[in-house]
Amino acid sequence: MKRIGILTGGGDAPGLNAVIRAAVKTAILEFNCDVLGIRDGYDGFIAQAGIVPLDLNAVRGILPRGGTILGTANRGNPYARKVIKDGVETVVDVSDEIVQGINKLGLDALLVVGGDGTLHIAHELFQKGVPVIGIPKTIDNDIGGTEVTFGFDTAVNIAMEALDRLHTTAEAHHRVMVLELMGRDAGFIALHAGVAGGADVILLPEIPFRYESVAGKIKDRVELGSMFSILAVSEGAKPMGGEQVLSRQGDQMYSPRLGGIGHRVADYLEGQGFESRVTVLGHLQRGGTPTAFDRWLATRYGAAAVRLADRGGYDRMVALSGGKVIDVKLDEALALPRRVQLDEDGVVTARNMGVSFGDG
Ligand code: F6P
Repeated sequence: MKRIGILTGGGDAPGLNAVIRAAVKTAILEFNCDVLGIRDGYDGFIAQAGIVPLDLNAVRGILPRGGTILGTANRGNPYARKVIKDGVETVVDVSDEIVQGINKLGLDALLVVGGDGTLHIAHELFQKGVPVIGIPKTIDNDIGGTEVTFGFDTAVNIAMEALDRLHTTAEAHHRVMVLELMGRDAGFIALHAGVAGGADVILLPEIPFRYESVAGKIKDRVELGSMFSILAVSEGAKPMGGEQVLSRQGDQMYSPRLGGIGHRVADYLEGQGFESRVTVLGHLQRGGTPTAFDRWLATRYGAAAVRLADRGGYDRMVALSGGKVIDVKLDEALALPRRVQLDEDGVVTARNMGVSFGDG
């Protein structure tokens, strides 16, 4: 193994820099192998100045930093790239150009750090001969084949702190405080933060809710003397028989953007006589320094991916299983996204303790 490349794609997640640092240090110190960084996801292969050599100096001091020193792009799909042709905006497939760019660099492996979309593209590029290795990242924790992705723990901690802070105002003003959280179609952030932050109601994409049931829980609390309530609401939560709330429709380039369910729930509760306020935590969940757990996991993933590259384990992804870093086939990992299971311990525990999922 003489030369490897690394890119970060999709939405950023705390721990990306820790992965880059671990991969560069392991490649250089353990395998005497050069590392090239690709800027802004797959776009770097066709952009001017899109490739940067990464030496030990380049990764010094980046462990605690959020974001990614390489930049990222969540519209950087080589199979559907927006270009202006004869003055008209059109979507084209530039995957062959990307593959040529990769081949020109003479990479023995390309480490792709990304979520579902970025890793799917990696798998497709493997079919075109690119020696890819996947590293799963996302705050949503929705990638199959691994127990956890890095970035998730940081997001949960930020969401939990927000719930703690909302508690004090909720209590002081006798209000309902609704916190809308990210996660797309997976409710892990709301479930984990909701339990850790003592939410009274947790609404998840996996458990469609009834507005009446949510209001019923708040009414019950009032009757028992609790004049405030805290709701942790996934952006992907939806009422029974209803749809998710979008703040922007999707198209060929963009995935639909979720957002607005927190306000729908709060509006309903106000209509029932409960003074309510909404906080949409948004991208605060992705920013800033990673937790110790995310740095630890990201570092292990980065180093393991380089060892996997040295073994020629292409089209595979590093993953966590029973606390151990293993590797799994990319297509198998991506076949089934991770979702909150209705019978999993976290859901059962919350129910046992009186938390409502709005489905009663
Ligand atoms: O997948 C990570 C995530 O933060 C989701 O939780 C959220 O729905 C989406 O990305 C937001 O994407 P963007 O950064 O494009 O607004």
